[in-house]
Amino acid sequence: MAGNAPDLDPLDENAVNELVARALVKIDQATNLDSLKAVRNDLLGDSAPLVAANRTIGSLEAKMRGVAGKNLGSARASLNEALQSRQAVLEAEHEAQVLLEESLDVTVPTQRVPAGSRHPLETLMEEVGDFFTAMGWEIAEGPEIEHEWFNFDSLNFDIDHPARQMQDTLYIDGTSVGGSSADDGHLVLRTHTSPVQSRALLSRGVPLYVACPGKVFRSDALDATHTPVFHQVEGLAVDRGLTMAHLKGVLDHFARAMFGPEAKTRLRPSFFPFTEPSAEMDLWFPQKKGGAGWIEWGGCGMVNPNVLRANGVDPEVYSGFAFGMGIERTLMLRHGIADMHDIVEGDTRFSQQFGVNGRGH
Ligand code: PHE
Repeated sequence: MAGNAPDLDPLDENAVNELVARALVKIDQATNLDSLKAVRNDLLGDSAPLVAANRTIGSLEAKMRGVAGKNLGSARASLNEALQSRQAVLEAEHEAQVLLEESLDVTVPTQRVPAGSRHPLETLMEEVGDFFTAMGWEIAEGPEIEHEWFNFDSLNFDIDHPARQMQDTLYIDGTSVGGSSADDGHLVLRTHTSPVQSRALLSRGVPLYVACPGKVFRSDALDATHTPVFHQVEGLAVDRGLTMAHLKGVLDHFARAMFGPEAKTRLRPSFFPFTEPSAEMDLWFPQKKGGAGWIEWGGCGMVNPNVLRANGVDPEVYSGFAFGMGIERTLMLRHGIADMHDIVEGDTRFSQQFGVNGRGH
């Protein structure tokens, strides 16, 4: 455009003023920094009329050069000033626009990934472990795939004792219930935590105070009150002079820790091959539906002398007591859970209700 413009006479003050007036309008009309840059180039670039006129000054008569220089100089000064102030305005606008576009609305709702929570069975087993270690007992663990000898023989189950079928045992590798097949590998999924009694006696010796929480297996179908995989905690104390009174004291103390100060236990005669005498243990349960009452919680008894003998302990010197209860059952009683499915199905909405400490707060 500048190339086609008629030459500007640097001595024609009116022409210069007119050019400046038109230029100021153009500067004012530049709406962003890029178009202002283009306007600046048109007005003051190498081929701009003002600049071209400037180059002609040298060829003027000496006395006219001052006038021409003054005309063009003041024109350039006004344009520069206008360009500068327009530049400042556009820069400020640009900055405001950037701030607006980059600002974050912190109130916009987001999709949050919910925090996980631990399963109440885990936290309950920890709580049980804490209870026993606080009394100075140790925690003992054993394998879930157990040798038949530990699961039954060492616990005074005869080889053909009906008690081996009493619990619906899951045998491993071609072995059959009763352990009678020819390729008998003698491995079972442990049906209770009692084999850990035997393992702890053999590996730790006496006196012995252990709690054994863990997973156990029976060939039950999953229904509202059964699951083929569940958890128990076993307690075993073997020392000089232990009696059933000690057993009862520990059970009552444990019941209060699990169910509150009103809780207590009651023993009813029963049978287990590994304890003599044996008892079913009932819990006094104030929250029972339809009014406070007794409800079965576990099994217990004095360790059978045959078990002590089978595990290298002299029953003439030592006596012991043992007990075992279901963790799922304890959880269901304590929290009024009616259906086992809720415990095993893994819906996190179930676990979340128990909070971080397993008690819901
Ligand atoms: N092991 C028994 C059961 O699973 C419970 C029990 C443990 C009974 C210790 C007596 C002593 O039913």
